[in-house]
Parts: sequence; C-alpha cells; structure tokens
Amino acid sequence: MSNHNETSTFAQQLRSDPRLAEAKQLILDAVADHQRNIVNVRPASPALEADYQQMLDGFGEIRGGKLYFPYLSSGLGNGPFVELADGSVKLDMITGIGVHGYGHSHPRLVEAGIDAALSDTVMQGNLQQGPESFELVKLLTQKANETGGHLAHCFLSTSGAMANENSLKIAFQKNQPANRVVAFSHCFAGRTLALSQVTDKPGNRVGLPDTIAVDYIPFFKSSDPAGSTALAVNHLRWQIKRHPGKIAALWMELIQGEGGYYAGSPEFFKALCAVAKENNIAVIADEVQTFGRTSRLYAFQHFGLDQYVDLVTIGKISQVCATLYTDEYKPKPGLISQTFTGSSWAIIAANAIIQGLIDQGHYGVDGRNQKLHAYFQAGLEGIAKRHPEAVSGPYGVGGMVAFTPFEGELNQSKEMVNRMYHAGLMSFIAGSDPVRIRFLMPLGSVEERHIDLACQIIEQIVEEMSSEA
Ligand SMILES: Cc1ncc(COP(=O)(O)O)c(C=O)c1O
Repeated sequence: MSNHNETSTFAQQLRSDPRLAEAKQLILDAVADHQRNIVNVRPASPALEADYQQMLDGFGEIRGGKLYFPYLSSGLGNGPFVELADGSVKLDMITGIGVHGYGHSHPRLVEAGIDAALSDTVMQGNLQQGPESFELVKLLTQKANETGGHLAHCFLSTSGAMANENSLKIAFQKNQPANRVVAFSHCFAGRTLALSQVTDKPGNRVGLPDTIAVDYIPFFKSSDPAGSTALAVNHLRWQIKRHPGKIAALWMELIQGEGGYYAGSPEFFKALCAVAKENNIAVIADEVQTFGRTSRLYAFQHFGLDQYVDLVTIGKISQVCATLYTDEYKPKPGLISQTFTGSSWAIIAANAIIQGLIDQGHYGVDGRNQKLHAYFQAGLEGIAKRHPEAVSGPYGVGGMVAFTPFEGELNQSKEMVNRMYHAGLMSFIAGSDPVRIRFLMPLGSVEERHIDLACQIIEQIVEEMSSEA
C-alpha cells in the first residue's frame, strides 16, 4: 500500500490506483454491451406489465396522485433512448423537462457516477465541500463573464426554485426598502411561497397567502416587435411611477418555458433593462430552463445582455442549480446558505455536462444547438405543410423546440402527448391559449436520426387523430 507523502493525498493515490482504471473500464464496457440493445422504441413486454402496473399504482397511492406519465425507468438507456421497467423503450425528447442533457446512461455520466461513488460523502454543502464544487463555480463564472458580463460570484443550490429564492433575497436585501417585483405576464419562476407569487399562474397559488407583491408587464410579441417593446417599456415606467422607490427587481424569463416557448428579442430586453438601470432596479435573468440550450451557454449572452444582468439563475441541464451575481449585489453574511448544494454525483456531472457541451461545439451561431434546432424545425415545418390543421409554429429556440397542435386546444394537446408517449415519443405540454407541445432534446447525445424518428411518430399521431376528427 502507498504511504503518505508531502505532495499527494491518499485520495489522489486512490484515484491513480490502476485497479480503479481497470474496474471503471470494466463497468463502462458492461454498460455499453447491454445498452447496445436499446436502439429503437419498443412496446412493453407482456410478462412485465402486471408487476409494472402494480408498482405504478402503489407509487401513485403513496405520493398522493398518479404520475403524469406511467413512467418508471429500468435504470438503463442509450442516449436519447430509455428503457422502462416494463421493458418498453421510449425516445426521450423531454428529458425530465430539460434535465438529462446527455440522455440516458451516457458513458460521460456513468464515469462521473463512479468518481462520485469514490468521494467521501454523498452530499456536499455548507460546511463541507470538495474541489469539484470550486471547479463548477469557476467554470460557471468564467463562462458568464466571457463577453462582458460581470457576475463575479456564484452560489450553488439544489433546485431552480432555491436558486431563484436566493436571487430574490439578494435583490431585496440590496435594494431595501424596495419590496416589489416586476415580471412578465405568463412567466414561470417556481413553486415556493414567494415564487408562486412571481409565477403568473393563479391556479398555482390557490389558498396561499400573499408573500411578495408582483406587478406584471406584457411580454414580447414577434408579430409586433416595436409595438410590444414600447408597450412593455410603458408598463414598466408606469409601475415605477405607481410604486416610487418600491420596485426591487425586474424578473426576466428570456424565453418563456412553461408559458409556451416564446422568446423575446435583444432590443426588447435591452429597452427594459435600460429603464431598470435608470431606476436602480436589479435585473434578474431566470435561466433555469434556458441555460445551455441557446446559441450561447447563457441565454442572456444569446440576447446580448451581458452588461445589464445583475443576477442570473440556472438549473435543469446543469444538474446543480446556481445563482450568479455581481459584486455590487454581494449579500450580507447569513442571507444565503444551504445544508445541501448538491450530491457529489450531480456536481461532478455538472462539470462533465457543461464542459462536454462546450467541447462538442454546441455554442456559437453555427453551433450544434442551432443546427439541431434547424433540423427539428425543418421536420416540423414539413409536417405543418402536409397537415396545416394539426401542426403550426413558432418552433422555439435552440434546444427548446415546440409547435402548436390542433389550434392549441387543451384536451386535444394532452391527447396528442399521450398518444405519442404510447407510440414511443416523450414530449410535454406548455402554455395555455394556445397549449403547445414542447421538446427539450438531450443535446449531448441526440442525432439527426433521432429527430427523424421523433418527426415520424409526430406525423403518425397527427394522421391518426386527423382521421378520427
Ligand atoms: C424558468 C424556470 N424557473 C424556475 C423553475 C423551477 O425550477 P425547479 O423545478 O428546479 O425548482 C423552472 C422549472 O420548470 C423554470 O422553468
């Protein structure tokens, strides 16, 4: 056995033990051998169906409501394909609403998991953290400041809601006694007591006390860019006049996710940010859904808002969530802290995913995110041409793809998502009036052939539903 010496720790000696490299390779080879069979969608195995149904029923009973999809993973997948515990295989184009950026059982993540299993704790947080967390905050801040941003600090947390709560607390503390927030109509910010007030969905706050005061301004309309920008700016100015000195933050979801996959424009956001800056209002970009999915790592960079953002939150594809903020917004000690900032696996995987997407050329105007989007959009436009009554745009941005099914009627949209699920394609709804169907592709592993298969299933269901109408 090795001895302690001055230049390396026992842990470093463990990690360079040749037995570990050998064991890791054995595991990766075994996973690869077994996932080789998961290459297309497939229905359930009849012999597994009864037990599967029992599991689903039991789970639904205990959690107090059945799962949205009858989905329990088997624990193995192959990129965008995932095997369920009933033996069926799905093409996963929703990835837990944007979480599984490399899809399922990707070697990069299996390796991260093995490395995490070798670390001394399951979770990291307030008092005890590892170098992986330092690596992650370094990567996130360095990338955030690459083109003019000045987000000097980054605080990790376990959920998008917690990252958003932290950003609100930081903004309120700095801008006190201002205690109101201005946000866009139809925005989604999370489900805590405070964020249920920011989220513009009355149904999500039924029975809850009013925690913070939120004023809404209209979002960008691509059908009237100049008019909708002027309208939003006027609304913001009017809110500032109505509540002098009381608005602490301008809350911006740059591409509305739950609201239906509608994007703003650089001019729209810049005009609003300029007014916010004139009035000492914090500019917060909620990138929990958009992070990693546009032409730049951060959507605020995609829209050229580097010089304006004071706080930015990220989540989902990053596994670990985070609040980035400028030096000016540095909170006083005691305001933010957490027992858990993430599991060691999530933190190591976050580094592997973000660095992997950068190295694989996902960013830039001709980056892989833009190309995958263009390919998916072309597929959907083809279906829309053949079935204009059933599929229409707009089609989203980058790794956020959507279409409006059958004029966006709720029940028909849900029915379509359901039928696609049973045919092997996973998607989800977004927005209301019209309801839309969205996809959050596993960017790191999806290929054109997977998008072809998705479009094939979409068209098959469109034809099925149209013929029944
Ligand atoms: C824009 C946005 N903000 C915040 C959240 C909340 O994140 P979480 O569900 O991780 O708390 C979401 C989740 O869908 C989101 O899309």
